[in-house]
Amino acid sequence: MSSSAPPVYDTIGRAYVAHRQPEPRWAATVAKHVGATPDDLVVNVGAGTGNYEPEHCRVLAVEPSTVMIAQRPAGAAPVVRASASALPLRSGCADVALAILTVHHWDDWPSGLTELCRIAPRRVVLAIDFEVHSHFWLLDDYLPEVAEHARRCHPGHETIAEAIGADLVVPLPVPRDMQDGVLGAYWCRPEAYLDAGVRANASGLALADHAVVSRGIGALRADLESGAWADRHAALLGFDSLDLGYRLVVAGARTVRTADRQTRDLRPNRSVRPKAGSTTPPQRLQRRPPDVT
Ligand SMILES: C[S@@+](CC[C@H](N)C(=O)[O-])C[C@H]1O[C@@H](n2cnc3c(N)ncnc32)[C@H](O)[C@@H]1O
Repeated sequence: MSSSAPPVYDTIGRAYVAHRQPEPRWAATVAKHVGATPDDLVVNVGAGTGNYEPEHCRVLAVEPSTVMIAQRPAGAAPVVRASASALPLRSGCADVALAILTVHHWDDWPSGLTELCRIAPRRVVLAIDFEVHSHFWLLDDYLPEVAEHARRCHPGHETIAEAIGADLVVPLPVPRDMQDGVLGAYWCRPEAYLDAGVRANASGLALADHAVVSRGIGALRADLESGAWADRHAALLGFDSLDLGYRLVVAGARTVRTADRQTRDLRPNRSVRPKAGSTTPPQRLQRRPPDVT
C-alpha cells in the first residue's frame, strides 16, 4: 500500500461488526449472481469484515484497513492488505471480482474498477443509485446536504455499470427488518437515527459535516416528539421493503434467467419518488462488451 494517509475505516470502522452484519436476503441475491462453483476463485475487494463473502467456493479478500481486517471472524477467507487501485494479483487470476458497498470509498475508483476488470471476467458490485437514494426521507427531509454531496462526489451505479461493462442491474430493496445497518436500514424505525452508534456506522453520516448532521438529527428528534414525522410518513410503516437505491451491478453473468430478460431504460427519473414496497425488476443493460485487459 503506497498511500501515506491511514485508511478511513481505521477510524470509522472500529465498531463495524456491532452494527453491520450481512442482510440474509441481500446475501442470497449476491450469492446467486456471483454464481460461483466450488473451484471458482472470488476476489472480494474492499472486503472489510467479510460480509457477503460467498461460501462453498475459494475466496481471497482484499482490504486496506487493519481495523477492519482485525474484525474478520475466525475461519474467514485469507486477506491481502491492499488498495483496489493497485491489486497485487495477476491478470485473469480470479473467476469473479466482488466489491460490496465499497467503490464510493475508493480514492481512485476509476483505477479500482479497471483493476476489477483486469483480474476477473465476471464482476459483481453492490453500488448505489444516488438519485433514488436522495429521495429517502432521512436525506430529503433532514439532510439534503449529505444527499447532494453523495450525488456530486461518488460514482453512482450507472457510472460503475459502464466502467465494468455490466449487463445486469438488480435492485436490492431494504427490508423493514434490515440486518445490515446501512444508511437506509432504519427507514421504518426512525428513532434508530437518534443513536450516535447507528450514525457512526453508516459512512454517509459518519463522514458528513458534524454540524450538518447534528442540525438534521435535531430536527428529526423534534418531529418524532411532535408527531410531525408520523403525520408525513406513517404510510411507510405498512410496507415490507423500500427501494432506497441499492443496486447489484453484474458484468459477465454466468447464467441468464428468464425473469431477467427485460430491457429497461436506466435513465434516472428525477420526478419519481421511490415506491415503498414496490418490487423493482432486474434491469438488463444494452452495452458493448467490456474491454478486459
Ligand atoms: C462500507 S465498508 C464495506 C465492507 C464490506 N464489503 C461489507 O459489505 O461489509 C467499505 C470498505 O471499503 C474499504 N475501502 C476503502 N477504500 C478502499 C480502497 N481504496 N480499496 C479497497 N477497499 C477500500 C474500507 O476499508 C471498508 O472496509
